[in-house]
Amino acid sequence: MVIHDWKSFFMPYEQAVDELKVKLRSIRKEYRKKNEYSPIEFVTGRVKEISSLLEKANKFGIPVNRLQYEIEDIAGIRIMCQFVDDIDKVVEIIRCRKDMQILYEKDYVSGVKESGYRSYHIIIKYPVNMAEGQKDILAEFQIRTLAMNFWATIEHSLNYKYKKQLPDMVREKLKKAADAAFELDELMLDIKDEIKDAQKLFEIKSDIITNIMHNILSLRSLGKNAEASRFEGSLNKLVEDGEINELNNLLILVKKEVNRYKD
Ligand code: GTP
Ligand code: MG
Repeated sequence: MVIHDWKSFFMPYEQAVDELKVKLRSIRKEYRKKNEYSPIEFVTGRVKEISSLLEKANKFGIPVNRLQYEIEDIAGIRIMCQFVDDIDKVVEIIRCRKDMQILYEKDYVSGVKESGYRSYHIIIKYPVNMAEGQKDILAEFQIRTLAMNFWATIEHSLNYKYKKQLPDMVREKLKKAADAAFELDELMLDIKDEIKDAQKLFEIKSDIITNIMHNILSLRSLGKNAEASRFEGSLNKLVEDGEINELNNLLILVKKEVNRYKD
């Protein structure tokens, strides 16, 4: 069979890539709106070029009428994460979705490929609603960290340049680069915990400060302006570098003061 109308063949894939990009980007937006950390840093997508589709079909001896069933990455979506453990969160988000069906997953994050390639792949079946009705297509998600993406992009261009016949020296350097990217991801993961601790500390501090300010306002509304100003002065001194226990002590004092005048 010959496909006369390649435009129509690619249309549902283009639609799917557009929709999936919007859906995944909106997950990021949702986290950001809630002021929460997003496991998704950014999303890209592409429809396979006809030349590389035919090249792949040729390589595996796939007849044209089987392309839609046998080639799983005509629609491809890449999800980039800052940290390795974000990948698990993204995978979980995809597993929970009702608008796509997972066919299978390949974990090249734990099981790094011979080349040094790392990424988490999910192949899905995705329904696209076209003018003529619903069409199910296959799509491939590649979920990876920024470091994994950097490495894969470079390796891909080198393979393209050398037509997959990489000189030994280049291959060795790429292996080393893959190890370095892995190490970078591990180091960043350690820092992520530090950042999380710092954020938690910041939240606790800002809660206490808000509480102190409420009490200072209560003092003012009770007409105790001099006392209120005194506590404001103490608070100002602690806002920048005050320890949590110092802030807590101030909170206890200002609460006592408020209670004294309330009764
Ligand atoms: P394909 O024939 O490309 O489908 O490979 P496959 O059937 O072995 O599937 P696999 O899941 O291993 O790879 C699918 C896609 O992952 C590829 O099309 C690439 O985008 C990416 N990929 C896999 N291995 C490598 C690699 O060694 N280097 C780079 N840069 N990308 C890779
Ligand atoms: Mg494949």
